[in-house]
Amino acid sequence: MYENEKTKLQKIIDDSTNIVFFGGAGVSTESGIPDFRSEDGLYRQKYKYSPEQVISHSFFMKYPDVFYEFYKDKMMCLEAKPNAAHNKLSELEKSGKLKAVVTQNIDGLHQKAGNKTVYELHGSIHRNYCMKCKKFYDAKYVKNQKGIPYCECGGMIKPDVVLYEEGLDGNVINAAIRAIASADTLIIGGTSLVVYPAAGFIDYFHGKHLVVINKLKTGKTVNAELCVNAPIGEIMSGIKIK
Ligand SMILES: NC(=O)c1ccc[n+]([C@@H]2O[C@H](COP(=O)([O-])OP(=O)(O)OC[C@H]3O[C@@H](n4cnc5c(N)ncnc54)[C@H](O)[C@@H]3O)[C@@H](O)[C@H]2O)c1
Ligand SMILES: [Zn+2]
Repeated sequence: MYENEKTKLQKIIDDSTNIVFFGGAGVSTESGIPDFRSEDGLYRQKYKYSPEQVISHSFFMKYPDVFYEFYKDKMMCLEAKPNAAHNKLSELEKSGKLKAVVTQNIDGLHQKAGNKTVYELHGSIHRNYCMKCKKFYDAKYVKNQKGIPYCECGGMIKPDVVLYEEGLDGNVINAAIRAIASADTLIIGGTSLVVYPAAGFIDYFHGKHLVVINKLKTGKTVNAELCVNAPIGEIMSGIKIK
């Protein structure tokens, strides 16, 4: 399937020496982590509060118990393994062709697959800090605590994840934009491109080849040389590194 698209993508990869990948939740659905906006994404599931409400800063401060119930259940998928897309990106980095992954994901699967240069625009479930004494806690500790996780000092633990109403880390933004701006090829994959400011970062790309691999149409119109509406694992796994 998608032989024509795979051939075109291969030609682009062969012609590239500085690839950057920009991705979102759709990269991890094949690892069993639900995204937000697909048919079976979290926005279509029924809760008392919408996911957007629950993972906002004000909601976290007001109802940390409800926040943690949702967050631990739906967003902390600690058993998830990298899929074919993550693995190909890791191979591409090792070969020297891929210079960075810029991701909106918080699951840490790119690092698990072996990628070294990963700019996590929205933070990570794997980093958690006490709000009082700043002590670090890993994801396993947070997930295994009953209800709200607390530090040994009594402070509440907060994930190092960018919640709605919170700003992105300036250093991460700068590094991500620098990588995108200097790339010769940008591959955008598994993202609806509706979450800002992240979606706007792709506008810094001025290289040769722009590729989009996404199951559904993206929210933001991208003038791509190649647009593939297909599962990203299948498309990426077809890439041969020469
Ligand atoms: N895995 C995670 O870390 C995770 C999971 C859910 C949400 N989030 C957060 O939610 C926000 C949502 O924005 P978003 O744009 O990343 O996600 P989104 O849910 O808005 O969009 C996901 C997009 O990926 C596409 N998609 C789904 N599975 C795919 C596949 N196998 N192959 C190709 N395309 C596929 C869908 O068609 C959709 O357009 C992000 O900020 C992110 O931080 C992260
Ligand atoms: Zn503490």
